[in-house]
Amino acid sequence: MTRIVYVNGRYLPYAKAAVHVEDRGFQFADAVYEVCEVRGGYLVDEPRHMARLARSLAALEIDAPMSAPALAHVMRETIRRNRVRDGLVYLQVTRGEGPREFAFPAAGVPRTVVCLARPLDFGAQDALALTGIAVKSMPDIRWRRSEIKTVMLLPACLAKQAARAEGAREAWFVDDDGFVTEGASSNAWIVTGERVVITRQIAPIILAGVTRATLIDVLREEQMTFVERPFRLEEALQAREAFITSATNTVMPVVRIDGRIIGDGKPGHVTRRLRSKFHQFADISGA
Ligand code: PDD
Repeated sequence: MTRIVYVNGRYLPYAKAAVHVEDRGFQFADAVYEVCEVRGGYLVDEPRHMARLARSLAALEIDAPMSAPALAHVMRETIRRNRVRDGLVYLQVTRGEGPREFAFPAAGVPRTVVCLARPLDFGAQDALALTGIAVKSMPDIRWRRSEIKTVMLLPACLAKQAARAEGAREAWFVDDDGFVTEGASSNAWIVTGERVVITRQIAPIILAGVTRATLIDVLREEQMTFVERPFRLEEALQAREAFITSATNTVMPVVRIDGRIIGDGKPGHVTRRLRSKFHQFADISGA
């Protein structure tokens, strides 16, 4: 089956899908995106993803290319045309194309909209969650507006690559004061010896993860002790459990940080419980 990609109003075969060489997404990373999980053909947590996309667009003063329901329709149609049951859908909106000038183009330049969908092997992810993953810490060299979900992801690519080179699947960024900010493409969490679940509070230096928000619903509903505050790398190394959250991982246990074993080196009880509960709370009402 040929993969189909949505580009500016057309559903094109993968090999034919392209944007202009002077697209501002390509030239300046002047673009925002969303990645949503697809489960059983449903878009998971669509309202929260659309709300964050609107915030990212507004922060960069990019006019929305179409209404949120129309964008969601494009995502659903891309999922349908690619027959994705379990996987992800990726939506990118750029400021559009034009001669390479740093300042914004005149009003009226159409935004570029691209949407892709592809299957993911969630069975393999579940298998991975049984053993957990390793992470590597890296200095957070990103800009100070990481709450905007832009495609300016080079620091994340470098960090992830450095992690991979050491057999770790994710990198955890650490700020100048020694506190973990978040993962290269996930939010970072620990569980203390007293079973308090901790993640950094929302601030411009981290992305407000949709999975993070839904997991907070789970924590509240399950009446689990939960605190939003920064934690140092040393505290993470002493934690009983650690995990990451993202749309494509949901809740993924972390069992090693910088080669040091976390807890007893196995996915912890709290993490496993949160992973198992996640989809009971995720929103598929827009399906
Ligand atoms: N990344 N922090 C960063 C820097 C991220 O890139 C992501 C998601 C998250 C988690 O957000 P959410 O729960 O909404 O997926 C946190 C996506 C999955 C990506 O770039 O592929």
